Amino acid sequence: MSEEKPIALRAYEALADRYSALAESKAENGYIEHPAMRSQLTDVAGLSVLDAGCGPGFLGAYLAEKGAKVTGFDISPRMIELAGKRTAGAARLFVADLAKEIPALGAEEFDLVTSSLAIDYVKDWTVPLNTFRRVLKPGGKLVFSVQHPLGAYLWYKPASAFGVQLVEAQWRGFGGEPVTVPDYYRPFEEMINPLVSAGFVVEKILDAKPVPALMEKDPELFAKYSRTPTFMIVVAKRG
Ligand SMILES: C[S@@+](CC[C@H](N)C(=O)[O-])C[C@H]1O[C@@H](n2cnc3c(N)ncnc32)[C@H](O)[C@@H]1O
Repeated sequence: MSEEKPIALRAYEALADRYSALAESKAENGYIEHPAMRSQLTDVAGLSVLDAGCGPGFLGAYLAEKGAKVTGFDISPRMIELAGKRTAGAARLFVADLAKEIPALGAEEFDLVTSSLAIDYVKDWTVPLNTFRRVLKPGGKLVFSVQHPLGAYLWYKPASAFGVQLVEAQWRGFGGEPVTVPDYYRPFEEMINPLVSAGFVVEKILDAKPVPALMEKDPELFAKYSRTPTFMIVVAKRG
């Protein structure tokens, strides 16, 4: 059993309401990560989907709207409350830690596991990837997003480009008091090799780019995020 502490719980409890209110209108979420993830989730009607680290339910609500049967969990109780409001009873939601085994999830229960910008906060991916593999049906898909190793390296400036390292940033973009958000910087090999070891076959990697609508809204941010990748989307199949 993993002894990992949830490093980002306090930060996301503090940020939950602001994140829920604003993320869809932010360049990084609404104009880069949301469209990039959704571009890989086009045919979900009738699928049983687990959204791991669901936050305030943006993706869960989208998937339920498209006809998926959605289950979501998050470490932050406030995020789960907000996800409940956003999905209006259409999703099964509960508090759980990605870094721990989750017995409430049945073996081979899901056709698809999604996870947006959440697994970054877990140092050792062995437990969450084993969970994803256990709960997926044979041939089921895992679609998740993370901070792009290159963008994260330039942003956090860790001591070295190699190895998983604890880093932190002050989030000022959601209004109110700045919140210190701890995270793990993780290079490419520390993403792909754990996936392969857990029995996944990587099918696609996307360096997420901003959608053209951001050019209208904020040309400077559009130019900045068109130069350097911020997020990476991974599509993998349970082998
Ligand atoms: C950047 S937010 C993303 C939320 C949501 N997936 C989205 O895209 O809007 C990161 C989320 O990961 C959750 N999280 C962080 N560490 C976690 C852990 N160990 N287990 C489960 N969720 C975690 C946070 O509470 C937060 O809701």
